Amino acid sequence: MFKTIRSFSRYIPWVLCIFFAILSGLHLQMRHHGIDAYLWFGLFTFLSVVGFKDVTQKKHAILRNYPVSGHLRFLFETFRPEIRQYLLESDNEKLPFSRNQRALVYQRAKGASDKRPLGTIEDTYKSGTEWLAHTINPVGHIQPGDLRVTVGGASCLKPYSISIFNVSAMSFGSLSANAIMALNKGAKMGGFAHDTGEGSVSDYHRRYDGDLIWELGSGYFGCRTAEGHFDPKKFAKVASEPQIKMIEIKISQGAKPGHGGVLPAAKITPEIARTRGIPMGVDCNSPAGHSAFHSPLELMQFITQLRELSGGKPVGFKLCIGKISEWFAILKAMLETKVVPDFIVIDGSEGGTGAAPVEFVDHVGTPMRDGLRLVHMTLIGVGLREQVKLGVAGKIISAFDIARACAIGADWCNSARGFMFAVGCIQARSCHTDLCPTGVATQDTMRQQALDPEDKSHRVFHYHQNTLIALGELLVAAGFAHTDELTANAIIRRNERGIAVPLDKNLLQLESGELLTRDAHIHLNQHFDGLGDYWSSATHTHW
Ligand SMILES: Cc1cc2nc3c(=O)[nH]c(=O)nc-3n(C[C@H](O)[C@H](O)[C@H](O)COP(=O)(O)O)c2cc1C
Repeated sequence: MFKTIRSFSRYIPWVLCIFFAILSGLHLQMRHHGIDAYLWFGLFTFLSVVGFKDVTQKKHAILRNYPVSGHLRFLFETFRPEIRQYLLESDNEKLPFSRNQRALVYQRAKGASDKRPLGTIEDTYKSGTEWLAHTINPVGHIQPGDLRVTVGGASCLKPYSISIFNVSAMSFGSLSANAIMALNKGAKMGGFAHDTGEGSVSDYHRRYDGDLIWELGSGYFGCRTAEGHFDPKKFAKVASEPQIKMIEIKISQGAKPGHGGVLPAAKITPEIARTRGIPMGVDCNSPAGHSAFHSPLELMQFITQLRELSGGKPVGFKLCIGKISEWFAILKAMLETKVVPDFIVIDGSEGGTGAAPVEFVDHVGTPMRDGLRLVHMTLIGVGLREQVKLGVAGKIISAFDIARACAIGADWCNSARGFMFAVGCIQARSCHTDLCPTGVATQDTMRQQALDPEDKSHRVFHYHQNTLIALGELLVAAGFAHTDELTANAIIRRNERGIAVPLDKNLLQLESGELLTRDAHIHLNQHFDGLGDYWSSATHTHW
């Protein structure tokens, strides 16, 4: 008996709705009733019908078992991220960025105080804790404008002086038009670079004339043939625009390396079709690999071709390190052809994306710091480090993040999500749904009106400026005049055994030219057994 009552209890909300619908219906038969009687009757009749639909549908078991009340579950599911973020999340819980990290960007972007009271909330004795070794004798003052580096090797006719901190690749399509305009105007105000992402150069990128790095993905958007291959003539036309300062071939992206993409026909607006140079009404594919080159040697030839077609602008590539032997094959192709890219951007698996399969986000690709160290040291090992500048991207938000990356080997840093926060992203994690609540990552014209490009461009500018001011202060505290003086022993790390050791003690170390000797594989095997075998087996003709 008790069991039957308990089992029936789940229908109580629906039964109550029917009961009140009848009651309010009867009330309507009486002479004296107000407008609210109609409202109650309407509401309970509506809920009774909803309950009937719930028990007769077959898609959602929960609604079949819990008519009417089951909808609360779906309602709470919708609000769950917000409830978590506003009420439950702790200050240093990373999802993927902690409240503290986001607050830092918001404060710097608004020009508000970024100071913290009463000391650190971090446990400084926890393994993995890192700190900058400061000096007893800090002198000097570093301005944001001092923190720049020149990109462009011997074969480059138009070197570019890039800021130490720039907007990472995010295409028009993944970001709204208003977000792109805010980023580009901020970049113009602060004199830093804005990477177009692989969606090509849109009118919104061009409106404020901020420095652009044009990224070419495997879809060659903006310079493709009808079949989707690279079109040299179209490339030369866009690349010659003075606003474009560097050309970046995107080999892979940390959040989804080795994964292509499809832009469904339904999402291709006339504007996107014009920007990318693709037809309307047909799915648009970005293949996982490039069709313009199929081997390390061909990559070097492609770099040479782009350099010529762009009139001598710096040309480089972006990749997330995967198979180490493939990176070694690229190095050997540089040695063989004497073609050296002007820059390489190392992206980390911790990096962001608009949308990617969960297995790729969590389990494919090398994290940024590991990839960076490998590339930095092996370039030293083959004697080419002086000719190539290294950029990095992967969860870089604060001045310490920049200092650490430069200490490991980077020449400059890019941030994608940091600048998204600066234009108002609240980490709602709905980029893939087109329902971004702040108008940053949506193509919905109504939603993006919420983002005022003019106002947010100032935030972009201030975030960049205040981060570099903080970086300047860090460098002075550690006795340096520029990030190029930082080396890995400037950072101390508490290891798994609780001992504090300079960062370089755990990282790959090579002397200049060490990989050009016969014993190259022995030097590499000292870092970990097998690394030298990758080197020995790599050839410049194959990946
Ligand atoms: C919304 C969004 C769109 C992105 N689009 C591109 C892209 O078109 N091309 C690319 O190379 N990387 C793209 N990325 C990756 C970033 O450029 C960057 O490499 C990565 O997110 C690491 O930076 P972060 O940790 O600062 O976000 C995108 C990232 C985000 C968050």
